[in-house]
Amino acid sequence: MTTFDDYLETFEGDPGYLNWAAFGPISPSIRAEVFADADLLGSGRPSSLTLVDERFSEAREIAAEMLGASGDEVTMQPSATYGLMHAFYGLTGAVIASTAEFPSISMTLERASQASSGELSPRWITPEHTFVTPDAVADALDDDVAALAVSHVDFRTGYRADLAALREVIGPDRLLIVDAVQSFGVVDTDFSAADVVAGHGYKWLRAARGTGFTSFSARARERIAPVLSGFAGVDGGLPVDELPAPTASARAYSVNHPDQLAVARLAVGLRDVRDAGVAAIEGAIAEHVDRIFEIADRHGIPTVTPRERSERAGIVALAPDEPAVLSAALTNAGVVATTRGATVRVAAHAGTSVETLQMLDDAIGTLG
Ligand SMILES: Cc1ncc(COP(=O)(O)O)c(C=O)c1O
Repeated sequence: MTTFDDYLETFEGDPGYLNWAAFGPISPSIRAEVFADADLLGSGRPSSLTLVDERFSEAREIAAEMLGASGDEVTMQPSATYGLMHAFYGLTGAVIASTAEFPSISMTLERASQASSGELSPRWITPEHTFVTPDAVADALDDDVAALAVSHVDFRTGYRADLAALREVIGPDRLLIVDAVQSFGVVDTDFSAADVVAGHGYKWLRAARGTGFTSFSARARERIAPVLSGFAGVDGGLPVDELPAPTASARAYSVNHPDQLAVARLAVGLRDVRDAGVAAIEGAIAEHVDRIFEIADRHGIPTVTPRERSERAGIVALAPDEPAVLSAALTNAGVVATTRGATVRVAAHAGTSVETLQMLDDAIGTLG
């Protein structure tokens, strides 16, 4: 059996789960890790505490490897939004962002702007279909623009932005700030086009909450004054009777030390996905999404997600005439999805079973 097959075997639980874009049920290896680490922390032995602490560098190194970054460019965060806060609160100039972004970008950017005494301003765009394309960004560019903030995969439509093309449009000097929550671990891409990449472990990595992480390139660290930095973001030990400058690494963007159990969960989630292979995971998801499109088309349900594999990931947004009716049919059939406004969002992972997709098909079929 290959490592990827082993990985697929770890998807258990009741069939019908198509809500990976909201929450990833915790994987068996991570559940086992939680118990083992809790026992170690319960012993109080310094060697046991050290063992758990070692998960920190493991998580940082694997995240860095997967992001095409170096370890000192990655910092743990309580959640992805915290990482984006560090970026926005330290920036000046105009930041392009779509009004339809997940609020981790839109609300955080707005609040950072309000706190900036006019130094930072959102440059809101409303692109067609909410897709942040290179053309939409090009139209909003001028000399005041210091950065673009964008979700790699949009939480509502499932549209996957082309990071390399966006980098080309904004040029080498502006910052590219990426929310990779809906893509990290399931889209095999070159994240090195971005300066800041924020992700977390509680959806596609199946590692539960508290597992945020963010990378800050050298250019980002040069531009973003770490205004939210705390005592964990300095060199040396606990700074008492002194007020040292932030450390040069991405750890500058941290307030206090991370939750050990959360970091341990993240380390295992990252390791499992890295070992299984992101490209293989992406390929399996793409096939499930093809099948979801086929089901939707056969039942005459419109979708708003792009069809091209390179423009989507694990999310398909169904746009039926009566979303509430479809939502009720799915719930009745035991299919878990997210209904928001005019769309019903289904999201498949690599281990999504044939049975689960058949349940979706049957549930939609009951609508006649
Ligand atoms: C695109 C996107 N960004 C950010 C978040 C929130 O991330 P966190 O809870 O780690 O701050 C979500 C959660 O659904 C999301 O879909």
